[in-house]
Amino acid sequence: MTGSVNRKAVGIVNVICGANVTVVEPSNVYGCTVGDDVFIGPFVEIQKDVRIGARTRVQSHSFICELVTMGTDCFVGHGVMFVNDRFASGGPARGNKSKWESTSIGDRVSIGSNATIMPVTICDDVVIGAGSVVTKSIVQPGTYAGNPARLLRHHS
Ligand SMILES: CC(C)(COP(=O)(O)OP(=O)(O)OC[C@H]1O[C@@H](n2cnc3c(N)ncnc32)[C@H](O)[C@@H]1OP(=O)(O)O)[C@@H](O)C(=O)NCCC(=O)NCCS
Repeated sequence: MTGSVNRKAVGIVNVICGANVTVVEPSNVYGCTVGDDVFIGPFVEIQKDVRIGARTRVQSHSFICELVTMGTDCFVGHGVMFVNDRFASGGPARGNKSKWESTSIGDRVSIGSNATIMPVTICDDVVIGAGSVVTKSIVQPGTYAGNPARLLRHHS
C-alpha cells in the first residue's frame, strides 16, 4: 500500500464559553457553547452546536455529539456516549443529518460512567446508573439503570 494519512488536527476550536471554563487536553471540543465553571476532562469530544449549562462536569473519554443540549449542574461520568443516529433506516445515516435525532438533558442530571444515551429527553433531577443504555425519554425525577434503563426509584 502506498497511501498517506490525511491528518486533521482539531483541538479546542470556536468554543463560545462563559467564565472559568476548564478543558483538559487532549480533547476535541469545537463549535459548541459551554457555560460558566464547566469542567471538561481529557480525551473528550464535544461536537458543534452542543450546549452545556453552567457548572456541568464532563469526565474523561466521553463523547457528546451534535444535537445534544445539557442543562446546568449536570455530571457526565467517564466514557459516556451520546448518540444522534439510531441507524433508523437500517444503517448509519452517513452524514445525512435529516436522519439524526436530538437529545435534551435537564438540570442536575448525573450520568454514570460508560452509559449510552440514545436520542431522548431526560428531565431535571435524574441519576443514570453506570453502564446503562437509555433508550426512552425519562419524564420523572429518579434513579434509572440497566440496559434498557429502567426506574430503580423515584426521587421525592
Ligand atoms: C445506579 C446507582 C446510582 C444506584 O445506586 P443505589 O441507589 O445505591 O442502588 P443499589 O446499589 O442499592 O442497587 C439497587 C439495584 O439496582 C441494581 N443496580 C445498581 N446499579 C446498577 C447499574 N449501574 N446498572 C444496572 N443495575 C444496577 C443493583 O444490582 C440492585 O439490584 P437488585 O435490587 O436486583 O439487587 C449506582 O449503582 C450507579 O450506577 N452509580 C453510578 C456511579 C458512577 O458511574 N460514578 C461515576 C463517577 S467516577
